[in-house]
Amino acid sequence: MSDLHFQLLENNKEWVANNIKRDPDYYKNLAKGQTPEYLWIGCSDSRVPANEVTGTKPGEMFVHRNIANMVIHNDLNLLSVLSYAVEVLKVKHVIVCGHYGCGGVLAAMGNKQYGLIDNWLRNIKDVYKTYAEELDNIEDTHERGRRLVELNVIEQINDLSKTSIVQNAWKNGQSLQIHGWVYDINDGILRDLGVSFSDMSALQSVYQFEKA
Ligand code: CO
Repeated sequence: MSDLHFQLLENNKEWVANNIKRDPDYYKNLAKGQTPEYLWIGCSDSRVPANEVTGTKPGEMFVHRNIANMVIHNDLNLLSVLSYAVEVLKVKHVIVCGHYGCGGVLAAMGNKQYGLIDNWLRNIKDVYKTYAEELDNIEDTHERGRRLVELNVIEQINDLSKTSIVQNAWKNGQSLQIHGWVYDINDGILRDLGVSFSDMSALQSVYQFEKA
């Protein structure tokens, strides 16, 4: 076992001891079940840990992370998480959180090959294409990258509202809001992009499902 591996298990023991010192029933209560109000869809980037940046504790946030916080309509993993969060846990908020300096987004903006991941990043190139006029007009590459991070979040929010899972929740009168945020790894601040949805009124009619 490597030293680092050993250190992680030591850290865990210390974490458990601290939690039990604060509340002897901490794990007994957590083991009873989860009722999180939030589903977080974020980037796998190690610098954007969902609980830490939002000050939430175990039990408060259901989490799905992938490269560049994508909502891809045939991703069975994402759809399963979304379905369970919305239909069973009945979370009240879904947050898609991107982050400036996202390696996935920046790679998608360029033309270099990275291997298998190019097929995943292809979805971000499609976002670029949708907003090409705006993005091509931003001369500074750094600024263009920041804007693509934001636009990518907005497109993932749109993709969430195109799912039957989210639309059925809205049709059934379930309180469900979808939010787009961006985390800045330079200062640790989370910014709300102001693109929340709580119904499908903003959705093009071709994407609107009738009640099942
Ligand atoms: Co990222």
